[in-house]
This record gives sequence, C-alpha cells and structure tokens, in this order.
Amino acid sequence: MSWIVGGDLRGVPLPRSAAPVKEKLYDQNQRLHGYRHLSVTTDTVPSPLTATASGPLSGTVRVPGDKSISHRALILGALAVGKTRVDGLLEGDDVLATAAVLRALGADIARDKDGSWTIFGVGVGGFTEPAQVLDHGNSGTGARLMLGAVATTPISATFTGDASLCRRPMRRVIEPLEMFGAEFHARDGGRLPLTLKGARMAMPISYRLPVASAQVKSAVLLAGLNAPGRTTVVEAQATRDHTERMLKHFGATVSSEKIEGGLTAIHVEGQPELAPQHVRVPGDPSSAAFPLVAALLVSGSNLRLEGVMLNPTRSGLITVLQRMGGNIAIENLREESGETVGDVVVRASVLKGMEIEPEIAPSMIDEYPILAVAAAFAEGRTIMRGLAELRVKESDRLAAIADGLKRCGAKVEIGEDWLTVEGHGANSLAGGATVATHMDHRIAMAFLIAGLASKAPIKVDDTSFVATSFPTFVPAMRQIGALFQLKNR
Ligand code: S3P
Repeated sequence: MSWIVGGDLRGVPLPRSAAPVKEKLYDQNQRLHGYRHLSVTTDTVPSPLTATASGPLSGTVRVPGDKSISHRALILGALAVGKTRVDGLLEGDDVLATAAVLRALGADIARDKDGSWTIFGVGVGGFTEPAQVLDHGNSGTGARLMLGAVATTPISATFTGDASLCRRPMRRVIEPLEMFGAEFHARDGGRLPLTLKGARMAMPISYRLPVASAQVKSAVLLAGLNAPGRTTVVEAQATRDHTERMLKHFGATVSSEKIEGGLTAIHVEGQPELAPQHVRVPGDPSSAAFPLVAALLVSGSNLRLEGVMLNPTRSGLITVLQRMGGNIAIENLREESGETVGDVVVRASVLKGMEIEPEIAPSMIDEYPILAVAAAFAEGRTIMRGLAELRVKESDRLAAIADGLKRCGAKVEIGEDWLTVEGHGANSLAGGATVATHMDHRIAMAFLIAGLASKAPIKVDDTSFVATSFPTFVPAMRQIGALFQLKNR
C-alpha cells in the first residue's frame, strides 16, 4: 500500500493551514490514514476554488466533530490523571495544533487505528516547561484556552500563531490571568507572540467579563483549576457553556447562579483531581450551518444533517432561519455525552429579511458570514446588530462579509457593530466575482455556498484555511451535488 501525502485524487489540492503541525496521510481510497509530524512552517499554499449554480442538493451529511468541544476534550483529557478516550474528535488544523501544544507540555496524545484519540493526562498543575515555542496556528480558541490552562502552573512558555492569530487581541485574557499572579510579555497591544510565566502561588479570582466571550470565560475557569479555593466568572450574556459542562463531566465542582442585575456567576472549585473520561464529540453546528444554508438557497434541495449538536448556546442560527421562513425540522433529539444532539432536515425555502436582535448574537457569533449570505437571497432587508466581536475574529468579518457581498452585486451597509443586507429573493445575487478570504475559513465557506445559488460563479481566492474547522467541506458538499471547480468556466 502506498500513501498519498497531502494529495487529493479528485483534483482539489488539500487545504493546508499557514502553520500545519502534522501532514495528513491518505490511502488510495482517500481515507485519512494518519499523520506525519511536520516542523511548523509559515508558508501558505493558497488554493482558490470556484462555486457554480448547482442543481438540487440532496442526501445525508454528517459534519465533523464540534471544534469547541474537541479543543476542550483534549485540554481536560491532558489535565486529568490517566487515560481519556475521545471519539469523533475534529481532525482540523486548529484542534491538531492544540494537540501538539499539549504534547509539548507533557501530555501523551495519539490517534488510534479506529479513529478515536487517546490522551494520557498529566493532572491539574502537571504541565512541564515546553522546550519549544507553542504554535496555535490560526486558532484563537486554542491559544486563549491554553493561556488559561498554563497561567497557574509555575512554568514559562512562549505562544505564537499565524499572521491572523498574531493580529487578534489577547489582552482580554491577559488581564484576568494576571490577577491569578501570572506574568506576560506580549507584543504591543497585547498580541502574540507572547511569553507567559505561570503563577507560583496562584490566587483564585472573581472576574466580570467585559465582552461576551466563551474563550475568556473558559481561560479563567481553566486557570482557576490550579488555584486553591473558588474562582468565579460573571457574565451578562450567556456564551457557549461547553467548558462548564465538560469540567463537570471530568469530575470538577462547577456551579452557576443568577445574581443581581440579570447577571450569571459561574464558580469552579480549584485543585480537583480530574478523572479521565470517555468523550463523544457531536457534530459541529457551525460547520453544519454551511450545507444547511446551501439547502435553503438551492431550489429543490432536501438535505439531512445527522448528529448535529443543538446546545441552546449554539443554535441561534437555526432559530433565526426558521423565523425568516426556513423549512428546518429537528428529528431524533437525544442526549450524548452531556450535550443535546439531533438530526436537522432542511428543504429549500423562500426566506424573508428581518431584524435580528443583538441578544441572540452570542449563540450564533460564528454564523454571521453564512447568515449574511442567506440574507442576500432573502426577500427584503435583514438588519443584524450587536456584532462588534466580528471585527476581531480570524479576520475582520464585518468588513470581509461586506466587501465580498458587494463584489457579488449585493447592497450592503456596515457600521462599527452592525450590518444590513438588501435581499432580492432566490437566485437573485449576480456573483461573477472573486472574493478575498483574509485567512478566514468561514468567509471562504460562506462565499462558496453563495456561488451555488448565484447567477454567475463565485471564486474564492484561498480555501486553505477551511481545513482549520471543516477539512472535509469540499468533498462533503460535492457529494450532495455542489459544483466546485478549480477554475472559472
Ligand atoms: C469559541 C468561542 C467563540 C467563537 C469561537 C469558539 C469557543 O469566541 O467565536 O469560534 O470555543 O469558546 P468568543 O468566545 O471569543 O466569542
């Protein structure tokens, strides 16, 4: 048997992130066989792709494991004592970078032949000083959660990432982590690369989140694990609660309570012994969002998305699309590893523009690029507010969405934290443009979906970052009928 390294027999180059930690090995049937460790490189290999109006999309899609839960399963597995097993781990570049970082800190992490992952954890406070720089590639979640996980262990570590991650704000985690006693030497503006000296005698803290951010909340909770006593995070708006759920799953004492002013206080008791667990990672709703919207927009489509996580802190997009007239049904609702999971059945629909309230933004914060695409095919104006956080994602997503949609012929306006899109109904978008992705996986996927329903093809300048969250996006979409080509027709 000979292995194909990083190749794709269907003619589409496999996406490579700016900082691959491992190269994928495929067998001749295109099955992922395993990984070959690579030295970290800053080379990018742009891979453009063009999407063309497609016939009805139909069939069943099982999207890869949830990215947020995958990071957390690796991190908590590494902080437990003994052997944790993870099924359905997302094998995207972001998560593989977290695995490489955890290995550099002393955890033993391996992919088994059956596709499950095994982690031999070092225990809370057990990380050893890494001999090399910790590279999180494109992943804000990986970097921020790991800064928290390391901040209360008395070791020094230098963190970096690709050009996109090195532009993103880290002060939002540095500030609370300094309160535990950690020290930071960061670039101007609190950016990566930075060196962290973990607290010797960590003190538990109480911290109110200045921004609705699950990453900041999680960094504080993970740091609190190795501080004696109770650490508290207070949030005004509910953000995704996977860290809290998974900490409980691993045996930590975590509680939450409503306090005055409509706020919620989340407490973690420090220095538990975490017990290794079996984690099943459900399908990522943020990845499911792309085929879901594609099926709504391409006339005659009928699609089933199996095993999608439907945690209410993540399901805002489905709620909004249903209100816009989307024919979306949930079947087989069930509980798996402490998360609500279901199958999502979608049929092509006539969508109506609407005003979307800012309060729902945290439950669909990653879905605005694809929602904006849906809005461009809806009838009437869609107004989205409360979007300041989109400015500091993998790219400035407000600017990238507006620029891409304008190039495709849509009328769009943006402000500091809002976006309006004028829609003219099904198949109304002109297309016929090349869209810049700015190292952002969700911008790339959103505009490839737009191309499936627009009048003229849409070319996306670089799909290499799609591998950070949805490495099987191109073949999965082709399998249900999407027309993606390497060149413009
Ligand atoms: C994530 C939280 C969100 C989200 C990101 C994943 C997480 O970021 O955008 O893709 O796993 O905690 P913020 O918490 O900064 O909004």
